[in-house]
Amino acid sequence: MNPPVIGRSAALESALRTARLVAPTDATVLLTGETGTGKEVAARLIHESSRRAGEPFIAVNCSALPEALVEAELFGHRRGAFSGATQDSLGKIRAASGGTLLLDEVGDLPLAAQAKLLRFLESGEVQPLGESRAARGDTRVVAATNRDLMSAVGAGRFREDLFYRLHVVPIELPPLRERDGDVALLAAHFLARFAEQHDRPAPRLGKCALKRLHAHAWPGNVRELRNLCERLVILHPGSTIEAAMLPLPAAAPASPAGLALPAEGLDIFALERSLMAQALALAGGNQSHAARLLGMSRDRFLYRLRKGT
Ligand SMILES: Nc1ncnc2c1ncn2[C@@H]1O[C@H](COP(=O)(O)OP(=O)(O)O)[C@@H](O)[C@H]1O
Ligand SMILES: [Mg+2]
Repeated sequence: MNPPVIGRSAALESALRTARLVAPTDATVLLTGETGTGKEVAARLIHESSRRAGEPFIAVNCSALPEALVEAELFGHRRGAFSGATQDSLGKIRAASGGTLLLDEVGDLPLAAQAKLLRFLESGEVQPLGESRAARGDTRVVAATNRDLMSAVGAGRFREDLFYRLHVVPIELPPLRERDGDVALLAAHFLARFAEQHDRPAPRLGKCALKRLHAHAWPGNVRELRNLCERLVILHPGSTIEAAMLPLPAAAPASPAGLALPAEGLDIFALERSLMAQALALAGGNQSHAARLLGMSRDRFLYRLRKGT
């Protein structure tokens, strides 16, 4: 059974309302939102609320697959189609037949696989590697992305026709910082859940701690809050949590920090390299988050990173 979807904010409710409306149809859905906002949760909700509920739900992370294996993984292959293909393989699209396939990080699909995916979405046909005849699959596709697919289209990395095909019903999961009141509900839920799981008394959140949680920007969204709650249950069972006990960076200053230029000057390129490295570390290696921390687009961030500025 799926964990409950927690939250009563208008921003989340609006996304869930669209998810419930589209669920009973076979329409392709594009879920967007920052990492940890619940895109996979929403995809499961759509699956569970559809006539496909008793059938498989399979999630594939397109960015985690080596490019050479993506097509085999999704569309299947015949034994001997490439070195290492020791057996026939159905591929995830047909493995999820009757059910739902979540293509997570769909923006990272290589162009050749994008062409094959479009063909499947238009005609229901899949072409396994090393197989002369096309096969068919009855699989509902839900795609998810944490970045702006339209800019990937502009940059030539994502097919425009596939973009529009996936974009039939877009659903945007709001960032946690824009969900009024949900932080407290989610924290209470996760504290109780992890207390039970670890067999510890649940900690309580003091007033100031709760205020601090509300002020935090949550770059990792619900996932970040969930992990923080698990940590609190383990480190402070049964305690009242004060703001200082929260493993969060000091509250951000109210105005953008002004860096005073030292009298002897500074190496602005070294400073930029250092800030970019710090942003990456703060963001746990997530480039989109690191870019956001510095107020840059991901593309610009990557460009500067490659260039070494
Ligand atoms: N509204 C919610 N209620 C309860 N748990 C949630 C909610 N949204 C996300 N989660 C939890 O947060 C974590 C990240 O969610 P996930 O769907 O994997 O995010 P994404 O796919 O957008 O990165 C998961 O453990 C998920 O169960
Ligand atoms: Mg995910």
